[in-house]
Amino acid sequence: MPVLLQLDSSSAGDASVSRRLTAEFATRWRERGADHTVVSRDLHAEALPHLPHASLHWPPRLRPAGAPAFPEAETRQSALIDELLGADALVVGAPMYNYSLPSTLKAWVDHIHVPGLTAPFDVDSQPLRGKTAVIVTTRGAIYDQGSATENWDHTVPPLRIILESALGMRVETVAVSRTLALSVPAMAGERAAFDAEYAAAQRELARLAAAL
Ligand SMILES: Cc1cc2nc3c(=O)[nH]c(=O)nc-3n(C[C@H](O)[C@H](O)[C@H](O)COP(=O)(O)O)c2cc1C
Repeated sequence: MPVLLQLDSSSAGDASVSRRLTAEFATRWRERGADHTVVSRDLHAEALPHLPHASLHWPPRLRPAGAPAFPEAETRQSALIDELLGADALVVGAPMYNYSLPSTLKAWVDHIHVPGLTAPFDVDSQPLRGKTAVIVTTRGAIYDQGSATENWDHTVPPLRIILESALGMRVETVAVSRTLALSVPAMAGERAAFDAEYAAAQRELARLAAAL
């Protein structure tokens, strides 16, 4: 039974562009057959706490001797890792917040990136190797090649490094910029360019969902 894990982190509710696109991807996934299921996790509505201690970055065998125990946090971390490992594909809504990823999404990354367990360290452990992760990133302003802000995106790069280089997943990124054209009068002149980016993202997500 193929499972898609759908993560959302936007705080914009129904106005969220990334939520609309991850939902569309989930719909395309379900359309692939009655056996295709979706597990959704809303990292904004049910925000994860931060890891309570640095030792939880490591599996138990690699934690420093005498590291304090955090049974509740360890149970939560194990459940998040199991949820990820149980998925056949991942779609992540990743809005740009202050040129970076929302802290709610970062907290999830901190829980699931465990060297020696989900990523190689002392052992060549990469249980998600080869599975597909689709990052759907949305940002209010313009980051076109050649623009003054073309290198200001620090949302996708850390996600890509973790999912692709550390976890070994096959990562695809679908980006929509100029979303402020929907709500900020000063950006209204970008509306047609936003619409074109949005339509291109829809097409690309449909293609990716069909190819999985
Ligand atoms: C806290 C916060 C910080 C933001 N920072 C940026 C930013 O640094 N650059 C940018 O282009 N847009 C920024 N935006 C705008 C969002 O990237 C934009 O609204 C995007 O569409 C958010 O994704 P969503 O539509 O799924 O909520 C910010 C929005 C919020 C709420």
